[in-house]
Amino acid sequence: MSSTKRKPSRVKSSRNGKSKKGSRPSSPNKPSQDSIVSVLAESRVFNPPKSFSRTALIGSEQQYKKIWRDSVKNPTKFWAKQAKEQLEWIKPFKKVLTWKPPFAKWFEGGKLNVSVNCLDRHVRTEKRNKAAIIWEGEPGDTRVLTYHDLLREVSKCANALEAMGVKPGHRVAIYMPMIPEIAIAMLACTRIGAMHTVVFGGFSSEALADRCNDSQASVVITADGGFRKGANVPLKKNVDAALEKTTSVKNVLVVKRTGESVTMKPGRDHWWHDVVPNQSGHYEPYAADSEHPLFLLYTSGSTGKPKGILHTTAGYLLGATISAKYVFDLKETDTYWCTADAGWVTGHSYIVYGPLANGATAVMYEGAPNFPDWGRLWSIVEKHHVSILYTAPTAIRACIKAGDEWPKKYNLKSLRLLGSVGEPINPEAWIWYHEVIGGKRCPIVDTWWQTETGSMMITPIPGAIPQIPGSATKPFFGIDPEIVDKNGNPVPKGQGGFLVIKKPWPSMLRTIWGDDERFKAAYWSQIPGMYFTGDGARQDKKGNFWIMGRIDDVLNVSGHRLSTMEIESALVSHDLVAESAVVGRPDDLKGEGIICFVTLKAGISPSTEVKDKLSKHVVTQIGALARPDEIRFADALPKTRSGKIMRRLLRDVAAGKQSTQDTTTLEDLSVLANLRQDED
Ligand code: WT7
Repeated sequence: MSSTKRKPSRVKSSRNGKSKKGSRPSSPNKPSQDSIVSVLAESRVFNPPKSFSRTALIGSEQQYKKIWRDSVKNPTKFWAKQAKEQLEWIKPFKKVLTWKPPFAKWFEGGKLNVSVNCLDRHVRTEKRNKAAIIWEGEPGDTRVLTYHDLLREVSKCANALEAMGVKPGHRVAIYMPMIPEIAIAMLACTRIGAMHTVVFGGFSSEALADRCNDSQASVVITADGGFRKGANVPLKKNVDAALEKTTSVKNVLVVKRTGESVTMKPGRDHWWHDVVPNQSGHYEPYAADSEHPLFLLYTSGSTGKPKGILHTTAGYLLGATISAKYVFDLKETDTYWCTADAGWVTGHSYIVYGPLANGATAVMYEGAPNFPDWGRLWSIVEKHHVSILYTAPTAIRACIKAGDEWPKKYNLKSLRLLGSVGEPINPEAWIWYHEVIGGKRCPIVDTWWQTETGSMMITPIPGAIPQIPGSATKPFFGIDPEIVDKNGNPVPKGQGGFLVIKKPWPSMLRTIWGDDERFKAAYWSQIPGMYFTGDGARQDKKGNFWIMGRIDDVLNVSGHRLSTMEIESALVSHDLVAESAVVGRPDDLKGEGIICFVTLKAGISPSTEVKDKLSKHVVTQIGALARPDEIRFADALPKTRSGKIMRRLLRDVAAGKQSTQDTTTLEDLSVLANLRQDED
């Protein structure tokens, strides 16, 4: 792309609010199981502002189109060029792609190290003393780490981990608050060639134990606790409980953050401040093969236990690097802030690897958006002069609810670009984000991607692609998505269908950890030869993609993917529960709320007390983010004759709708009638 001449933009300046607003259903997130209904779309178009396009890395739609067309016509040529230009190699690769569907190998023969790409290569330049991470703790404390500082800390941490026996290929679980040490720990693993598996700090000890067991992690890196809404999250205590149920973990490295008292088990538990600072600030980076495993990240599937998504070194890093560069239009002068937690893939790709590989300055914030009040996000933008803000629709909706007076108290003029990720953004939230936060001058990139895709797949390039509220618009370079029916045939434009990716791409997941068969079944068996995203979508006549949400039994709660199966299993694991079914209900704030239908064991009477018990139980089993919004007791659940719970009916009941669904396979119609009566 650097070789492509920038053409003058022919895009008209922003036509804010010139609207023919179409009607949209209240929830575009939940198409029915068997068919996907196309919806009438939003038609307000926001062209990239001229002033933005003029200085953008990609400044016109023609330029985008040319690069994209060439990239999908000859993907290996495109990716080879990018890999050479964007990454620093210890040994050049020999072959771009070996594709034995569904197994891909990218850049074989090459060797590189991720931490070298994120740190050393900048430390050798004038970026040496540039801020890599500007961190703000929830209580208001701040730390700034330059690229040189970060390299030294990462090397020390790598030495400490090596002293604990960590070797290339080993798994290290990271269960930490959002403090700089989380990025240091991740990068230290990559320096050694060890794999990290970051477990979101909001997950319970049970969830941590499951992930340690599945990955057979030998070390856990954690903290005494973390701050959240002014309270302490007892991370070390959770680790202690998790380790009762695991045998693989031999060492625990503990950062002191909150200062609350914790139990340290001699021989197993080590304070970070005792073992890291006195290590050497040099660690010879491991020369990893391109396909060397980089990390595991667990994500919910529709059935059974969470899936350990495996990403590998060169391909993942390339995807994160070039998408961060072109989608955020990163410039030397930018201060970039992604509000995600490092425990999610967004934090991996767009707090740590993407921004650092580009030598950018990234803001990191520890706490809640509403602590001490709803002005916190905006105070951070003002204080650090944030120029690029990447957040989630659920956060935007919460801010809308809190009121415009909060952002209005702060100077947000430093912002030049806004981003959204995690779920479809409702047009109303898009417009608010554009007007109230972006002052009508900032383009918005609505980025569609997944833990599995590693990096952004469908998103506007901000200086080039006209934005439409609610549409993720166009595919990223080298990405070839399509909307197909269940046989894999493309559906006509405007019609809903399954979103698939037709060609392999470098940052795609390589498998599910230890389960190639599940990998094939989950992503490659529905539509032969194509990657099945699990999302429904449609493409409009102009080629813009509109994501309609998950088509399986996964909920999208506040931008987090939660498996209904896991919540059901948690409920059923309680002594009082006989059976349960969990469905989503459209929720203005969270995207989807969690509605649990529960049948109790014989002799147990429903009561508020039982509800509270079950709710608490789900929280201990999975974490606070899975806390049920509603628990409803039922004598029986609607089932098919083959015994499958009919969740689509329950979804209607939960939403308070009269079902228009086909009930011919329902075993006992009276069950449904009873469920409805309970509502009154
Ligand atoms: C699922 C992936 C990608 C990082 C955060 C979530 C939904 C994500 C969008 C968007 C509509 C979106 C999809 C996707 N999703 N971004 N811009 N528009 N839907 O990662 O937990 O792996 O979830 O989130 O349903 O499949 P994840």
